[in-house]
Amino acid sequence: MAAPKALDVKNLSVTLGGKKILQDISFSIDEGDFFIIIGPNGSGKTTLIKAVLNLLPYTGKVSLFGKSVHKRAGLGATVGYVPQKFDFDRTFPITVAEAIDVALQKGLRAPEQRKERVDDALGQVGMADYAQARIGALSGGQVQRVLIARAMVNQPKIVFFDEPLAGVDVKGEKSFYDLIQNLKESQKLTVTLVSHDVTVVNLYADKIAALNRTLVAFGTPQDVLVAQNIKKAYGQGFGIFRHKQCLKKDPQTQSPQEGERCRLFGE
Ligand SMILES: Nc1ncnc2c1ncn2[C@@H]1O[C@H](COP(=O)(O)OP(=O)(O)O)[C@@H](O)[C@H]1O
Ligand SMILES: [Mg+2]
Repeated sequence: MAAPKALDVKNLSVTLGGKKILQDISFSIDEGDFFIIIGPNGSGKTTLIKAVLNLLPYTGKVSLFGKSVHKRAGLGATVGYVPQKFDFDRTFPITVAEAIDVALQKGLRAPEQRKERVDDALGQVGMADYAQARIGALSGGQVQRVLIARAMVNQPKIVFFDEPLAGVDVKGEKSFYDLIQNLKESQKLTVTLVSHDVTVVNLYADKIAALNRTLVAFGTPQDVLVAQNIKKAYGQGFGIFRHKQCLKKDPQTQSPQEGERCRLFGE
């Protein structure tokens, strides 16, 4: 028998406050996929993640690893989630280890076991030396790593990140994606991520969904990232994304120095 899909969404619709937010969304991703959801502001990306995690009422069918999410109480250990705009209260005097410990499953009682899990999660994100540091003393990039550790602490099979890169510079973005890619491979993790940056997704994504209240396109980056879909998701007035690097001119030939990742976007 084929392995169940990591995430299987069938005919999902969401109505909030009498307004139809998502309409008839169907797609599925495999275990180990790096899945990225793109779409403009207000297109329903956060709503989709919340519905999939059973945090919002919906119609349709959602299964994680072959089990209907309707039957789940809470998120459970299988799932890690970093909500949009989630941050620690930096003025609150807690340590990194304490901030992660609170996310641990209730069932895990023994203090040594809890400490081991927390240390393990911090090790995975390269923050092992910071367990006793105050949250308030960390840089933005370090806080982001702690958020990833927090999502990983219950050893989930799938993790959801909702726009984790707001306020992070380009260098921080690259190390974030490299870290996630690394975790994905070392922990056999399935990753679902909402991103604004269409240019990075073709470097990392196995599957992409372009969303605008309905599913505009779904598939591999090569299938999805074509001008027609981007226009459909983002509107006619929207140009094709170009990374700054792609527009640099070669000093000798004066032609644009285009790399692999620049060429994919429609032209
Ligand atoms: N609880 C709610 N009640 C009514 N409308 C909502 C609610 N939550 C979100 N919306 C609306 O749903 C749309 C999609 O929101 P959201 O999923 O946050 O989009 P995105 O994450 O893509 O920016 C927006 O128009 C938003 O105003
Ligand atoms: Mg959102």
